[in-house]
Amino acid sequence: MDLAAPINSALKRVPAWPLYPLGAVPVVWILWQGLEGKLGVDPTKAIEHQLGLWGLWLLIAGLAITPLQRFAGIRLLKFRRAIGLLAFFYILAHLLVWLVLDVQIPSLIWADIVKRPYITIGMAAFLLMVPLALTSNNWSLRKLGAARWRRLHKLTYVLAPLAAIHFVMVVKGWQLEPIYYLACVVGLLALRLVPKRLRIFAAPPVRS
Ligand code: HEM
Repeated sequence: MDLAAPINSALKRVPAWPLYPLGAVPVVWILWQGLEGKLGVDPTKAIEHQLGLWGLWLLIAGLAITPLQRFAGIRLLKFRRAIGLLAFFYILAHLLVWLVLDVQIPSLIWADIVKRPYITIGMAAFLLMVPLALTSNNWSLRKLGAARWRRLHKLTYVLAPLAAIHFVMVVKGWQLEPIYYLACVVGLLALRLVPKRLRIFAAPPVRS
């Protein structure tokens, strides 16, 4: 019996587009709290941190979609583009807060990127996200062809660990929270190496 069938038939009726306005809610809430002075003594840092965290959560959510389909038969593929694009916009906002509110002085930007390894790694992760965000549309998929498009989007497997390592390096000492996220990313990537025939519920195989 396909235990995922009722979930999938409910999901079929849910369109993907509402994720975009819904995904904007946390950023509006974070900025609103900042303007209201509710983010403590260093609102810039708090905004930077929260946007970075949302970006990472969304990256992890995007990575979970293929294993969920492969092992549990739950089909969330139609939401993946919105989740990936939202992750990109959160990281872009995280980067802009760093540039505009944190560093501020243009001559210090490059120095900071080169001098601080956690910024170098964060920047590398962000730069790898750019081609993915730019090609997350039907036109690019058609132009590149499915095989090349899929190959390009495998950059996620590099950028997601870099993003999680960036968080591990940001915090002082060995804290558990970023390590959990790194383990999550590594675990979700490792699941892709498991033979495709292993599944919890019956479900057709999935590519990528
Ligand atoms: C995929 C890319 C990225 C992800 C997922 C990410 C995520 C995060 C997370 C989760 C934090 C820590 C939040 C906390 O402490 O609660 C953080 C902190 C930070 N990130 Fe990123 N980040 C990324 C890229 C970048 C880039 C491109 C820059 C700048 C070039 C950057 C600069 C910073 C800075 C300055 C901090 C705060 C450090 C401090 O507390 O002093 N990040 N990031």
